Amino acid sequence: MLPFTRPSIGEQERQAAAEVLASGWLATGPKVAALEQALEEYIGGGVQVRLFNSGTSALEATLLAAGIGPGDEVIVPAMSFVASANVVLRAGARPVFVEVDPVSRNLDPVAVEAALTPRTRALLPVHFAGRPAVMEPLRRLAGERDLLLIEDAAQAIGSEEGGRRVGAAGNPVCFSFHPNKNMTTIEGGAVACADPRLLRRLERIRFHGIEKGADGAMDVPEWGGKMNLPDVNAAIGLVQLGRLEGFNARRRELAARYLARMPRHPALLLPEDVPGHSWHMFCVCVDFAALGSDRPAFQAALQQRGVGTGIHYPAMHLFSLYRRHGYGPGDFPNAERIGAQTLTLPLFPAMTDADVDLVCDAFADLLPGGDAP
Ligand SMILES: Cc1ncc(COP(=O)(O)O)c(C=O)c1O
Repeated sequence: MLPFTRPSIGEQERQAAAEVLASGWLATGPKVAALEQALEEYIGGGVQVRLFNSGTSALEATLLAAGIGPGDEVIVPAMSFVASANVVLRAGARPVFVEVDPVSRNLDPVAVEAALTPRTRALLPVHFAGRPAVMEPLRRLAGERDLLLIEDAAQAIGSEEGGRRVGAAGNPVCFSFHPNKNMTTIEGGAVACADPRLLRRLERIRFHGIEKGADGAMDVPEWGGKMNLPDVNAAIGLVQLGRLEGFNARRRELAARYLARMPRHPALLLPEDVPGHSWHMFCVCVDFAALGSDRPAFQAALQQRGVGTGIHYPAMHLFSLYRRHGYGPGDFPNAERIGAQTLTLPLFPAMTDADVDLVCDAFADLLPGGDAP
């Protein structure tokens, strides 16, 4: 059975974790500092990186550090992992959902402009599945309206946008290193940014609000939580970061093979390849109703052919939490269609070409009357 994702953990990662476990220092320490520095070098642009215990913590801390809170609105795509919106609520602000493009699944900049109000404080674009969002119109809007631009790059480590790595632009950009991501620290996340004031607040917020003076004296000038990454995780991350370019190159090859071999069928919407895509996921939409089927039956038929699938993601505004904030069916048709029709196909670096062919053959089987690619 081919799963839709599988982390690539090998002897080097096991060894790195074992060394930290034997070292006597398990919490945040030298490995976290080393991974922060290695990520700064990898991302480039002179940004600094601060590690967190999850991508969610990285986003939450960034919103708090940026001073976003009650009375503020933050623009969020209607289709993403629910953490993208939950962190806004957690900061005490209001997530304002905006329609996504049906193919890229990223924020539609025209819809963003239409959703701005005097209360809008920040734009929170997501680089869905590693496909870089088109940032120029969002940068322009942020500049004109004095808005913060906080990127949810949870799925986009190694993606490129505007001729540089995602994260290198200087505004706060948040990554996740959850096991499904292109590199993992088991659980973990990071913020990349170039603003020294924000970085200082991020350091406090991730660890109890504590600040140490030059004389080593401890003060707590503001609230902070417990969001630091342990060294065991950072040690695994250092090995994974060293392998990331290889992982992403293989992901791109596998995606290209999918795009070359998947059948063309009116009920099947394929993703597009674009420069800078790191192919975190290969997500298609299937018009199950047009095939006289539904998603569970289609997934079961794929499973019978040895193909596992995932669902990324239901439209967020239809969750009961967000319906209580006034949203409902019909608000964002593209996001709703993606939520109802999406399937994530297997894509991970250890997959073989034959694995891709197995999936493509299964689709050819299940989409009769389709054209060859
Ligand atoms: C778009 C997006 N944002 C935020 C997160 C949260 O990251 P984490 O799971 O590391 O907390 C994820 C994780 O799946 C994600 O996909």
